[in-house]
Amino acid sequence: MRTSNLFVLLTSIFLANSLPFPNDNAVGVVWQFPNTTWIENLAVRQNGKILCTSLSAAAIFMVNPFEHTETTVHQFEAGNGVLGITEIEDDVFVIVSSRVNLATSAAAPGSAAAWKVDMGTWTQGDNNPVTLIANLTDVGLPDGVVPLSEPGAVLIADATKGLIWKLATINGKYTVVIQDDILVSSNPRIPLGVDGLHIVDGYLYFTNLGDNILCRVSIDNAGNATDEIELVATMPAPDDFALAAEGTAYVAGANQLYRVSPAGQVDVLAGGINDTTLEGATSAQFGRTRHDAGVLYIGTNGGLLVPVNGRLIGGQILAVNIDQFA
Ligand SMILES: *[C@@H]1O[C@H](CO)[C@@H](O)[C@H](O)[C@H]1NC(C)=O
Ligand SMILES: *[C@@H]1O[C@H](CO)[C@@H](O)[C@H](O)[C@H]1NC(C)=O
Ligand SMILES: *[C@@H]1O[C@H](CO)[C@@H](O)[C@H](O)[C@H]1NC(C)=O
Ligand SMILES: *[C@@H]1O[C@H](CO)[C@@H](O)[C@H](O)[C@H]1NC(C)=O
Repeated sequence: MRTSNLFVLLTSIFLANSLPFPNDNAVGVVWQFPNTTWIENLAVRQNGKILCTSLSAAAIFMVNPFEHTETTVHQFEAGNGVLGITEIEDDVFVIVSSRVNLATSAAAPGSAAAWKVDMGTWTQGDNNPVTLIANLTDVGLPDGVVPLSEPGAVLIADATKGLIWKLATINGKYTVVIQDDILVSSNPRIPLGVDGLHIVDGYLYFTNLGDNILCRVSIDNAGNATDEIELVATMPAPDDFALAAEGTAYVAGANQLYRVSPAGQVDVLAGGINDTTLEGATSAQFGRTRHDAGVLYIGTNGGLLVPVNGRLIGGQILAVNIDQFA
């Protein structure tokens, strides 16, 4: 065996043993939270640690995927479900919260709020990184959040009203920027419409959970639509997703991971409607370090809303190696 081959072999054995990320089509369990912990959304910090919002536990947790450890970053007053999270500047995040009835998905009117989470100044145990940006009293249920190129501005999906709001995080002012029937759920069993939001190459991509669609619309720097909304693909119950630079979406939903090509072809990469592997998948984010490039992290609610075959576990952070599916 040539030295270089030996090196490759040893390196791959080392990586396979030291890192929690599968290199076949297996789904790795990075972390499992206690029973009834609903993980709703994820953001990966530049240092690779994963911020996880919880709808049921009213908290922001942080999981270190390399060491399989977890810590609480912030505990909100009980009842405040935490939903979307996004990074607006280096290690500074915006999250949205609301008092949500988990069984019905109904948000208490006037209870929505947006918060800033400054992880750059955070040290474990002694520093609260969370400050209120604004109470979003006109918002129904705030869900996905995405930054605009305009500094300090984010878009917020309103799942119950079926609207997209723009929030200026500098002064807390917010207005509707996109309003269209295609953002509203027409499904009486799932009254949640626009859900995940991500932007690539001047296009805002969004899911409508109740209507089973992924769409996109071209927007300007201010977040206004500059063209008609286009339907990209249909699939069961698409929740939040990760969006690759070339426009491929990796969508969590219906206990599965979908890959949606820019042309709208849908492949199920992992899980299944009646499969427990990705039970309660809610969200997806790419790894950001050289150690987990090609890894997609998936957050789950552990089947809290719809247990698969009666199984209920704590929410999980799972890892799928997506490079292998290329
Ligand atoms: C936001 O809402 C909370 C809860 O209703 C209230 O206690 C707080 O004073 C409000 N803050 C602002 C700045 O409106
Ligand atoms: C975006 O749309 C709003 C109204 O919908 C309008 O007031 C604003 O001027 C628009 N912004 C830009 C940059 O076109
Ligand atoms: C999932 O399980 C339900 C209930 O047992 C069944 O009706 C349905 O056909 C199953 N779907 C798939 C895709 O296996
Ligand atoms: C989690 O809940 C399930 C279903 O109720 C139960 O079987 C299991 O023992 C619980 N696990 C823990 C750690 O409490």
